[in-house]
Amino acid sequence: MATLRLGDTAPNFTADSSIGTINLYEYLGDGWGILFSHPADFTPVCTTELGTAAKFKDEFDKRNVKMLALSVDGAASHKEWIKDINEVQQTTVNFPIIADEDKKVSDLYDMIHPKADNNLTVRSVFIIAPDKSVKLTLTYPASTGRNFYELLRVIDSLQLTATHKVATPANWESGQDVVVSPAITTADAKEIFSKGVEEIKPYLRMTPDPTK
Ligand code: BEZ
Repeated sequence: MATLRLGDTAPNFTADSSIGTINLYEYLGDGWGILFSHPADFTPVCTTELGTAAKFKDEFDKRNVKMLALSVDGAASHKEWIKDINEVQQTTVNFPIIADEDKKVSDLYDMIHPKADNNLTVRSVFIIAPDKSVKLTLTYPASTGRNFYELLRVIDSLQLTATHKVATPANWESGQDVVVSPAITTADAKEIFSKGVEEIKPYLRMTPDPTK
């Protein structure tokens, strides 16, 4: 499978998981999704990531984002590992982990980078929109755990910019001022954004978050 690029359709699959057989499209329904891979079960960084992800589930739910993890170990192993994660992270893993023993999904999503490791997935992230298009890809090495605040932040940006003619600046967080889309003129922006538009440069116009 070629590398998935932004705008590509996230390939559908049916796979075993910690909660039984899952079909991606059925699981996502008409909401958003986040699919994230882990190198292997019973590994330290992954244990912290999955515990953290479980603690963030309410925040993903609020944004209508279904969570789906993956590693190349089997479902029985995932179930045992989840007991450890729950114990050491004092949480309850409350989303499925795909059991990708045959690496079917890992190959489909290009999650194995042979020069990093021939057999284990890297830490991939795919954010999938309701129309099943890929809106974000991230690749972290096995040695670096992901920042789940950043994943929520980028989802906030994706969801805001999907419905408003804005973009979000560096280090933006929900509620802060946003950038007017370069595609619209300042005159039009002043009509669209009732809270006001500040023109710092003709190409850099700021406006308050239109959803707040
Ligand atoms: C970890 O999750 O801790 C890990 C997994 C594979 C390689 C290195 C670290």
